Amino acid sequence: QADVFTFDPGFTSTAACESAITFIDGDKGELWYRGYPIEQLADQSHFLEVCYLLLYGELPDKAMLEDFENRVTRHTMVHEQMHNFFRGFRRDAHPMATMVGVVGAMSAFYHDSTDINDEWQREVAAIRLIAKLPTIAAMAYKYSIGQPFVYPQNDLDYASNFLNMCFSVPAEKYKVDPALSKAMDRIFTLHADHEQNASTSTVRLAGSSGANPFACIAAGIACLWGPAHGGANQAALEMLKEIGTVDRIPEYIARAKDKSDPFKLMGFGHRVYKNFDPRAKVMKESADEVLDLLGIHNNPTLQVAKELEKIALEDDYFIEKKLYPNVDFYSGIILSAMGFPTSMFTPIFALSRTVGWIAQWKEMIGDPQTKIGRPRQLYVGPKRRDYVPVKSR
Ligand code: SDX
Repeated sequence: QADVFTFDPGFTSTAACESAITFIDGDKGELWYRGYPIEQLADQSHFLEVCYLLLYGELPDKAMLEDFENRVTRHTMVHEQMHNFFRGFRRDAHPMATMVGVVGAMSAFYHDSTDINDEWQREVAAIRLIAKLPTIAAMAYKYSIGQPFVYPQNDLDYASNFLNMCFSVPAEKYKVDPALSKAMDRIFTLHADHEQNASTSTVRLAGSSGANPFACIAAGIACLWGPAHGGANQAALEMLKEIGTVDRIPEYIARAKDKSDPFKLMGFGHRVYKNFDPRAKVMKESADEVLDLLGIHNNPTLQVAKELEKIALEDDYFIEKKLYPNVDFYSGIILSAMGFPTSMFTPIFALSRTVGWIAQWKEMIGDPQTKIGRPRQLYVGPKRRDYVPVKSR
């Protein structure tokens, strides 16, 4: 065992960054986008208006909103060559793998909006990413199930367009249900931004090197995929289905408390929220509404989720550790009821979070104080030593 090098840090860690975009109070369970509480935005606004707010800092007037929505709508198609790009993947590739690849490749197709020093190109890249991510996510889904790609339709709103691209087939047009589109739109809003979470920090770090915006967003998608982060919505639903019935909940609660067992309750706990995640509350109400709308009553998974939440919130371990349901606990139930496979849950999180990543990236790029991110380390390796040739070892 080499001597551990004694280390005197002699430095203080610096705050990650200043940001005016999203505020979280983990103890009070508050989340604001540019000062507006998430509950009010989820209830009274819609996703493209929230995109405008996150990007430009203020709510738009009618004309500004129409102009922004037109610009996004008219960028929803992807370069036709990208269809061939998709066809290089195996059919059974996880849609997140496809999205990381395709979004990263966007800088090969849209090189006229990669110059980060050009304000207009930064703006075009932002619009293209917000507009095309739903198309790319839908194409990843269609490709994975062997169905033909469905082109975006400019006469549909953002959420309806996404649902149509996912569920329409040549033989049968998808019937857009406005109430379902509103629920989809609300899910986009709830996931739009969340301060300096792992994937947003990844985008900022990648952006601090001067990488183009498409490469930075691809890095964010890759980080979001992890089951401890955005991948938790897929893992949470799979866990709820594995539990299956209410009588098996105690077995899983015991496992979550057992330090020797790596199992964690997916959809529970948060790095910041030590109170309810306000998004989980809205999502829980939405789950009831969507299942009612779809005529799905007594959904066993929702029953297990509600009972699991009830038991966990009364359990001393979870109370002491301040573990509450997070945004991922209920979202999978809604998405599953809408007809999405679990493999599409994180891609939907990614397309929703793209506006947050872009807003945070633009904020960082526009800050003259920005230097290349380079987190400090505490060296705990061996002291300096001389090489020993193999014949002498
Ligand atoms: C997202 O950062 C963001 O904002 C992310 C996100 C966003 O919008 O971008 O909000 C989205 O990623 C939400 C989180 C989704 N992940 C999950 O649901 C996976 C399950 N959750 C855990 O992996 C966990 O809660 C984390 C990773 C989210 C947070 O882990 P931490 O930092 O360890 O949480 P903590 O410090 O509050 O944990 C306190 C204790 C620890 O035990 P001790 O070391 O004190 O003994 O509680 C334990 C943890 O081990 N714990 C859990 C648990 N989560 C934490 N025990 C059982 N089940 C859990 N889910």
